[in-house]
Amino acid sequence: MGLVSAKEMLVKARNEGYAVGQFNINNLEWTKAILTAAEEAQSPVILGVSEGAAKYMTGFKTVVAMVEGMLEFLNITVPVAIHLDHGSFEGAKACVEAGFSSVMFDGSHFDIKENVQKTKEIIEFAHARGISVEAEVGSIGGEEDGIVGGGEVADPMECKMIAELGVDMLAAGIGNIHGQYPANWTGLRLDVLGQIQDATGKMPLVLHGGTGIPTEMVKEAITLGVSKINVNTELQLVFAEATRNYIEAGKDLEGKGFDPRKLLKPGSDTIIENVKEKMELFGSTNKA
Ligand code: 13P
Repeated sequence: MGLVSAKEMLVKARNEGYAVGQFNINNLEWTKAILTAAEEAQSPVILGVSEGAAKYMTGFKTVVAMVEGMLEFLNITVPVAIHLDHGSFEGAKACVEAGFSSVMFDGSHFDIKENVQKTKEIIEFAHARGISVEAEVGSIGGEEDGIVGGGEVADPMECKMIAELGVDMLAAGIGNIHGQYPANWTGLRLDVLGQIQDATGKMPLVLHGGTGIPTEMVKEAITLGVSKINVNTELQLVFAEATRNYIEAGKDLEGKGFDPRKLLKPGSDTIIENVKEKMELFGSTNKA
């Protein structure tokens, strides 16, 4: 199956009460591992690409070509979307033109009027080409790719305004942050999530900052309309740990253990296992 927009997979997830994982990619190994996990789990999947990661991978077109090549080579049969993560206005348009099947326009740092106006323009541009759109209200805290957010709690009425523009999925700040949660984090504002769900009806809601949220809280968020959960930092941590263990055990010095295909294998295998565990937790296993 070729690339698909995220719309149908999220409408299905919202109706059936599970969430689809967005796993951010950084390079070939990441992409291959996540696609392998999705196929093994028979789960739909969203490959998240930040503008910084796309630049690292030498541009949006390279990312699209790499993913399309892998879908064919690996015989991937499950639904896969390539989705711009926290896109700028210009970045979202560029991704639509480069062949992404889904984009996020993050206008949460603008005032609500400007967020509405810019989101509307991106929706028109993307929907005309069959590409799904995520918008954001209330910026997500923490730091991601140099973007530092203050960690706001979204206003449910502002969420309603953006939802009514016709976005396909909506990210709302509910005390979640990117990166690891500090020891004094008080948890997700599930009360506000409930109000956002009441205000936005059947809109698939997006939970950013998926790393380190307790499993019970994740499950409860799904019952309150969360249909897409973004995970990035956790995969970076498990990859780094597995790679460190390999080198600390001196394996790179044994035989041809320095070959990158061997050196990066423990990290890649760990990503496959971690992604499959997340798919199980989110309920998307066997939902392809
Ligand atoms: P984490 O890095 O905290 O998992 O968050 C990922 C994310 O929300 C991407 O948009």
